[in-house]
Amino acid sequence: MTPPDTSPIHGKYQRIARFYDLLDLPFENRRYKGLRGHLFEGVRGRMLDAGVGTGRNIPYYPPDARVTGIDLSAAMLARAEKRRKRLGASVELLEMDALHTRFPDREFDAITASFLFCVLDDTQQLPALREMHRVCKPGGSIRILEYALSEHPFKRLMMRLWSPWVRWAYGAAFDRDTEQYLGQANLELVEKRFLFHDIIKLIVARPRA
Ligand SMILES: C[S@@+](CC[C@H](N)C(=O)[O-])C[C@H]1O[C@@H](n2cnc3c(N)ncnc32)[C@H](O)[C@@H]1O
Repeated sequence: MTPPDTSPIHGKYQRIARFYDLLDLPFENRRYKGLRGHLFEGVRGRMLDAGVGTGRNIPYYPPDARVTGIDLSAAMLARAEKRRKRLGASVELLEMDALHTRFPDREFDAITASFLFCVLDDTQQLPALREMHRVCKPGGSIRILEYALSEHPFKRLMMRLWSPWVRWAYGAAFDRDTEQYLGQANLELVEKRFLFHDIIKLIVARPRA
């Protein structure tokens, strides 16, 4: 039996699940809504959405993909389940740690994660990418939507000022450097593209042959 998760991030999302969609609504409406579709471009077959949260990605899943969404927090998953039902979507939702999943090797054609890596601390970035590598089929694709700290001085300052609140509310940071760990996880970068100013990026990687 898996022992109960007592990590601070698990506790945080268990607590904020009820308010999460409301808290995030201005960002969802002004930023994320228009970007989420890019995460699933060209995706088909068996797909994993890691850190599925309240299921904000569900409306954007490709119709011909068979999707499993996982999250550390049962309370976030309960919200995702409500959304899944409301949308009549066929998505499997499971409570699981993205760093140690229970899936067999090479299970998925595509693995996606939106705003998961900003929540994972620096020691968790590589293990999460290694796990994604393990469960990704050869020739499969890993697609990550993430924040970056702007290079623009004013925007950078605003993000720095905003950071303590983001850390307190979401346990997240804007300056995770997920790409630097790709090589160590035996993944190669296929594409990196900014989707919102130089603040939100899409990272596409694949297992090295
Ligand atoms: C900022 S939310 C993003 C949710 C969703 N992907 C979205 O785009 O709205 C981060 C989510 O990652 C989950 N999470 C954090 N660490 C995790 C881990 N190690 N394994 C699985 N989920 C995790 C949290 O519980 C939370 O639901």
